[in-house]
Amino acid sequence: MSGGRVKDFGVKGIILAGGLGSRLRPLTKVTNKHLLPIYDKPMIYYPLETLCKAGIKDIMIVTGGNSAGDFLRLLGNGRDFGLKDIYYTYQEGEGGIADALKLCEHFAENGPVCVILGDNIIQDDITPFVDRFRKQGSGARLLLKEVDDPERFGVPEFDGERIVRIVEKPVVPMSNYAVTGIYMYDERVFDYCRNLKRSERGELEITDVNNAYILAGDLYFDILKGWWTDAGQFESLFRASQLVAGERLGVPS
Ligand code: DAU
Repeated sequence: MSGGRVKDFGVKGIILAGGLGSRLRPLTKVTNKHLLPIYDKPMIYYPLETLCKAGIKDIMIVTGGNSAGDFLRLLGNGRDFGLKDIYYTYQEGEGGIADALKLCEHFAENGPVCVILGDNIIQDDITPFVDRFRKQGSGARLLLKEVDDPERFGVPEFDGERIVRIVEKPVVPMSNYAVTGIYMYDERVFDYCRNLKRSERGELEITDVNNAYILAGDLYFDILKGWWTDAGQFESLFRASQLVAGERLGVPS
């Protein structure tokens, strides 16, 4: 495998909104998790707006499970978001985040990508981080956030300023940081995805992809200052609405 390059031309955006949303049943029994409301908008609007705000114009949405056709009715060709078009694809089953990402290889066309999980809601504008990714030349860039409950996430272990490994949902977390669901990768990501083995939970794990970049000595990160949350469980779904409402109404979180 040759060393990856982050090419000068545009970083493409990928939103992963597949999976079955099992942790939110019965809310997800007949509809898709990413169509559920977060305060005043459907969940999928937030990652889409995050990418658009960063100037990313080519965007692919991977969906799956129930109500996949509703994404098309809701988002159409993306004109409401200032896009010329949106690309869509469909993930069968719940094979994991890296399994969903694999479906985007042809879309990426050997170029760099910014991947965001469809249930990640973030306050920060990611433009400066995407700019740093462009400048770093090759490799991966992650966004971390200090949290009270790291055991729910991928957790980085540090040696000084470096991440030496990431553990998915560790029983005893090695730091108070979560790896958020916003990942920037050069074209090597699809080679790493191809070589993955299923984890104990039967999924192709994005954490294994990130560990492959660590082994290659080509993983960088930034730390988010503003609030960030996922919305994949009842508590975090509720919290996401509270955070967005607080922002809209000008109440500090
Ligand atoms: O939110 C950040 C966390 O997301 C990271 O810290 C973890 O390292 C990462 O594994 C992930 O953890 P979760 O267990 O919370 O991921 P979850 O299964 O809830 O999936 C999150 C989103 O990823 C989901 O909203 C849609 C997408 N996804 C997930 C699966 C399992 C897919 O597109 N396809 C899938 O098969």
